[in-house]
Amino acid sequence: MSRIVIADKEFDLYLESVKIQQQIEIMAGRMNSELKSRNVIFIGVLNGAFMFAADLLKRIHIDVQISFMKVSSYRGTASGMNIKRLIGLNEELKGKTVVILEDIIDTGKTIEDILFQLKGFRPLEIQIATLLLKTAAYKGSAKIDYIGFEIPDRFVVGYGLDYFGFGRNLRNIYMLGEGEEAVTNEGEDKRPEDERLEEQRT
Ligand code: IMP
Ligand code: MG
Repeated sequence: MSRIVIADKEFDLYLESVKIQQQIEIMAGRMNSELKSRNVIFIGVLNGAFMFAADLLKRIHIDVQISFMKVSSYRGTASGMNIKRLIGLNEELKGKTVVILEDIIDTGKTIEDILFQLKGFRPLEIQIATLLLKTAAYKGSAKIDYIGFEIPDRFVVGYGLDYFGFGRNLRNIYMLGEGEEAVTNEGEDKRPEDERLEEQRT
C-alpha cells in the first residue's frame, strides 16, 4: 500500500521494509566490528524503538546486554518546566559502553535529556544509534554515532513510530503529505498528576 490513512491524515509510503532491513543490516555490521571487546549494554527507548531494536539486535553477534527504558515527561510543579524521567532502568551501567537505541531524533531535546540522566550512572561512554534523524530539525550538540536514514523535517509513522498511538505495527515507514501538519503532543503526559507520581514510585 502506498498511501494509508491514520486518524484524519493521509501518509505516503516513504521507506519500504526491505530498505529499512538493508540499512539495519549495515548498522549492525558496523556495531559488530566497532563494539567488539567492549562491555556493551544496548538500551532501547520505548515505545518507538521496539521494532528497530528487535531487528537490529537479532543481527548483533557479539556478547552484549540488552535493556529497555521509557522516558516519561511531566510538568515539574515548582518550575513549571517539562522534565523528563527515565523509567525502568535497573541495570548497572558503571564502566560500560551504553548504546542508546532510538527510533527517531527530531530536535534532539529528548536524546539530550536521556544523555544527561544516563551520565549520572557513570558509564564508560555513551553512544547513540537512531534509525531516523531529522537532520534539518536537529539542534542538539551530541554526536549521533549510528544513523539509519537522514530524513526531511516531516512527520513519519510506521515501524514503531506512531500517530496518536496508531501505526506502530506497520512494516514500512510513511510520511505525512507536504503542507500537512501533524498535530501531536508527543512527550506530553496528560494524566492527572497523582497518577504520574504513582508511576514514579513503582
Ligand atoms: P525530539 O525530542 O524533538 O528529538 O523528539 C523526539 C521524539 O519525538 C521521538 O522520540 C518521537 O517520539 C517523537 N517524534 C519526533 N518526530 C516524529 C515523527 O515524525 N513521527 C513520530 N514521532 C516523532
Ligand atoms: Mg522515541
